[in-house]
Amino acid sequence: MTTAHPPRQAPPSGATASAPQCPAPALPDGLAPAAGPEQAPEVWPLTARTVAGELHIGGVSMPALARACGTPLYVVDEADFRHRARQWRDSGADRVHYASKAFLCAEAARWVQAEGLHLDVCSQGEFDLAVDAGFDPALIVLHGNNKPAGELEAVVRRGIGVVVADSLEEIDDLAAAAHTAGRVQDVYLRIAPGVEAHTHDYIATGGDDVKFGFPLAQGHAEEGALRVRRHPSLRLAGIHAHIGSQILDIAGLRLAAERVAGFVRLLDERHGITVTDLDLGGGAGIPYLPGGARLEPAEFVAALHAGIRQALDPARVRLAVEPGRSIAGTAGITLYRVGVVKQGLRRRFVSVDGGMSDALRPSLYLAQYTAWTANRTPVGDPRHSVVVGRHCESGDVVVPDIALPDDIAAGDLLAVPVTGAYHHVMASNYNHQPRPAVVSVADGQARLLVRRETFADLRRRDSGGLPLDLHAPQPDHAPRTDHAPRTDHALQERR
Ligand SMILES: Cc1ncc(COP(=O)(O)O)c(C=O)c1O
Repeated sequence: MTTAHPPRQAPPSGATASAPQCPAPALPDGLAPAAGPEQAPEVWPLTARTVAGELHIGGVSMPALARACGTPLYVVDEADFRHRARQWRDSGADRVHYASKAFLCAEAARWVQAEGLHLDVCSQGEFDLAVDAGFDPALIVLHGNNKPAGELEAVVRRGIGVVVADSLEEIDDLAAAAHTAGRVQDVYLRIAPGVEAHTHDYIATGGDDVKFGFPLAQGHAEEGALRVRRHPSLRLAGIHAHIGSQILDIAGLRLAAERVAGFVRLLDERHGITVTDLDLGGGAGIPYLPGGARLEPAEFVAALHAGIRQALDPARVRLAVEPGRSIAGTAGITLYRVGVVKQGLRRRFVSVDGGMSDALRPSLYLAQYTAWTANRTPVGDPRHSVVVGRHCESGDVVVPDIALPDDIAAGDLLAVPVTGAYHHVMASNYNHQPRPAVVSVADGQARLLVRRETFADLRRRDSGGLPLDLHAPQPDHAPRTDHAPRTDHALQERR
């Protein structure tokens, strides 16, 4: 079932620790309330608790962790991540590929493998990271709409399980790579089933006019399947589709599954091509705000089975899915230290020591978040606030409009929940900010997953105007592929 939680009340008003400097303007209707783990467990990691006013996760005190590791800091609840991975494993799908683009580091790859999931990657970089961490390459699926030939060669050589083909050119490149490696490579053909996921445009990938896959319309997808069949070094093992992200309405999923299954039947009836796997992507929605809904794994999978059944006997095919945020999202929070708090004309601006360099989604997708103090339980009345970052952009927002207690002040530790997916992996060095560390917590123990970047790291990349010899590119900076046309990697810096 999709689980929905009733909206919670903003925290009760009480005696304020420090009086606001001016009277709080009336709160606009429907303003998202701030809420801690006891008021809104749906947005907090499973093990989040308030202990003597402090936020604890995995039995670890967040103020103590912030003192030890600094802020901004990404914190991952290992128990939450693993619990959700197991929910997907038991969802009724035959295979679950964790979409590592949501969050990946060596230790997370090991959690995924330990819980019995496969992995979906989007680059050789993600593939190498996982395999170097011990992940079985045969359980990895590679995506991407513009995979360099050199990357295809490298992953095929290391024994990747499946490559999801996205264009005719790529099918030919992959066939050559498999031939050279002396392998028959399993391929899924990505198709665009022409279904919108009713989501923000930037994260809708299943319509007809998108850069991903072969449109079902006008015979493009059929042509792709026939191209795969032409190569003896390739085997068309499956069909793939992903219609978008943050899906809470199952109608689009069911329709996409029906269309993909219909295409599988067409391939069989018209061309005698038998496909065994249907990989129907990820995108299960999760709550970002108190009271938000989650599309449960079993419901997601049941919708896909229902769609497949319209065109095929589901027993004829194996169903694979690719959840990302649904596994990693709620497991992660970000800790920030509050700095300047400024009352604007209509809203109060609560500035923190991070921003769009570690939390891109609010600026990129206008994504909504909530926040709560991690060092003490606030007692002030709710005030219309916006949590802003320290970057030199007006759009540098960490938490858009929210009713934050009015006693929040400089020095407080603010925790923003549901930042486990698409935060650490999208972090940048904008305004020359080093990227935050990632720490996991479980059973009272904190462990460093990714160390904080330092100013020395950033300085090392600044090459200071070294003259370049264009005829002798350095091995580290040579293009990984001779697949023209390509950007001129030789212009990259030398150490
Ligand atoms: C092909 C593919 N699979 C899986 C995912 C994971 O989506 P989500 O993290 O929303 O589950 C994505 C996200 O963009 C995707 O493009």
